[in-house]
Amino acid sequence: MVLPDHRRTRILDQIGIQVWRSRDAGGEDSPVTASEESRVAAPVDPVNSTEQEPDRYRSLEDISAKVLECQRCPLHTQRKRAVPGTGNPDADWMFVGEAPGREEDIRGLPFVGRAGQLLDSMILALGLSRDQVYIANTIKCRPPNNRDPSPEEVRKCESYLKAQIGMIQPRVIVALGRISAHLLLKTPDSVPMRELRGQVHQHGPTGTPLVVTYHPAYLLRSPDQKARAWEDLLLARLQLK
Ligand code: URA
Repeated sequence: MVLPDHRRTRILDQIGIQVWRSRDAGGEDSPVTASEESRVAAPVDPVNSTEQEPDRYRSLEDISAKVLECQRCPLHTQRKRAVPGTGNPDADWMFVGEAPGREEDIRGLPFVGRAGQLLDSMILALGLSRDQVYIANTIKCRPPNNRDPSPEEVRKCESYLKAQIGMIQPRVIVALGRISAHLLLKTPDSVPMRELRGQVHQHGPTGTPLVVTYHPAYLLRSPDQKARAWEDLLLARLQLK
């Protein structure tokens, strides 16, 4: 779906992202469009450092089935539903969030709460629909009170995400927030988001382009950062050209 400029601008406006177009492009004053330069970071190690032997899965459905009955960590005792992930198995775009929240736990689907509505709008602004992309989380069960996942929970869940990425083979991965970014890039927790954003990382053995952006829940609390997140998405989109 190719969105005409005026529709994209309207959607971005509704999300609260102001995009000014350059005079040359027939728009208003100064441009705030994403940098057309993609700064390519050095390749990172493949996500092979999990202590756990990678499990063998036959298909995405098989991964989902295993997630639904997973008891690898204590989070399973408190969940209503596990949330394996959803979307197009042939997606070019893969979005990776942190962990299911309250709504997601009830419905068994990722990003269906308020943060999910914002993510949907951003996906729409890219000219895509939710069923064209794949959306998953770093961990598949809701942590109590939406606390950060523990390193142990992340480690135990990691092979699911790794297998999902391996099967979907997206052309670009968008890491939503620091938890997802640190897992996928194997960076220490101490590395701040500002050092991870604004560049194209490479993920896994095939060097899939990976762009880090803010988590939609953070953007709901800090709407002034939405324009930056939009720049990140435009940088990700450049990887598909
Ligand atoms: N936040 C996430 O990181 N994932 C979800 O699925 C919902 C909210």
